[in-house]
Amino acid sequence: MAFDVARVRAAYPALADGYAYLDGAAGTQLPGTVIDAVAGAYRHGLGNSGGAFPASRRSDTITAECRRAVADLTGGRAEGVILGPNMTTLTYRLARTLAAGWGPGDEVVVTRLDHDANVRPWLQAAARAGAAVRFADVALPEGNLQLAQLAELISDRTRLVAVTAASNLIGTRPDVAGITALAHAAGALAYVDGVHATPHGPVDVAGLGADFYATSAYKWSGPHVGAVVADPGLLETMAPDKLVPAPQEVPDRFEQGTLPFADLAGVTAAVEHLASLAGPAPGPGARRERILAGLAAAEAHEQDLFQVLLGGLDAMDHVTTYGTAARRTATAYFTVADRTPRQAAEHLATRKVNVWDGDNYAWELAGALGLRGSGGAVRAGLVHYNDRSDVDRLLAAVAELAG
Ligand SMILES: Cc1ncc(COP(=O)(O)O)c(C=O)c1O
Repeated sequence: MAFDVARVRAAYPALADGYAYLDGAAGTQLPGTVIDAVAGAYRHGLGNSGGAFPASRRSDTITAECRRAVADLTGGRAEGVILGPNMTTLTYRLARTLAAGWGPGDEVVVTRLDHDANVRPWLQAAARAGAAVRFADVALPEGNLQLAQLAELISDRTRLVAVTAASNLIGTRPDVAGITALAHAAGALAYVDGVHATPHGPVDVAGLGADFYATSAYKWSGPHVGAVVADPGLLETMAPDKLVPAPQEVPDRFEQGTLPFADLAGVTAAVEHLASLAGPAPGPGARRERILAGLAAAEAHEQDLFQVLLGGLDAMDHVTTYGTAARRTATAYFTVADRTPRQAAEHLATRKVNVWDGDNYAWELAGALGLRGSGGAVRAGLVHYNDRSDVDRLLAAVAELAG
């Protein structure tokens, strides 16, 4: 069945402003159902967690439903879904907790393909523990990790391998399953950053071999909430910093302070939205199956548009694109001759095209590409609500920057 992008776009009130939202990799717009779910939660009355009255029980129900929704989205278990403000905060929290067991002689492996949120927390935690850090490089111009190098870096000294499921800069989807298999063979844990990958295709944490899988709902049509999915049995072995009276059970013990209950209702609605992308369900159907179908349909739609986007950019002499990996999300990263990335983005904004400029916090990768000191490049990322007119408008506006 063809992807009904007009139906999908109609679900997003913000898209009515006439802009081409090609900034989705930095955060997506929200469908009306998600906005209504957040507002509805507040409208019905919320209480703090664990009380004896209905408003409190409503909040606890919202939290439990949110864990189930994120588990269905990722193929994980609801009892292993840690909720929090965003991926960066949760990763710092887990790095501090895991590093309590590291010492001199231990090693951590990180990559130059990753967003800094899956690099710096590990470096800083390792430094405090006296553990060593090893970097996996990005092979250029492809822009991918090399399994052979990771096989050399990972050893019985390795305690943790941190790797992204997709680059937020150039879209590359590295061989995560191959890398986590190396980690596990060496007795190390694998922490997979799924923030950029999650909205762009079906996710299966078991298939990826992720001991921890981090994601952020605001990249897939939800509110600003982060989640880390892990095996509850593994979480049971860990002792995060926590307040004495706060819950001791898993996953609650990893969640510091009060959760944003109304936003969690929005996260569940966002997962339902992803589950609807392949078309209205003929019957109730298992949500996990509908999510997998929805994300597969979104991926096919995005990849079709991406061929047009990349083909158009590569045909322009004044444009340089970065990354050539065969498996990548629909994320274009490019520079325009004689314009800074900010100047190019400003021009595009006058044509009602939203793009991001800079290193997008992929600090190591921007350095490897030689773009760190020059303002990075322009990023145009497609998500499921983008259509052909968004791409055509971007290409026409970039063409105006020739000469
Ligand atoms: C790949 C990737 N990892 C991590 C992050 C950080 O996520 P958060 O904003 O939830 O901390 C981002 C945000 O852009 C990202 O794209």
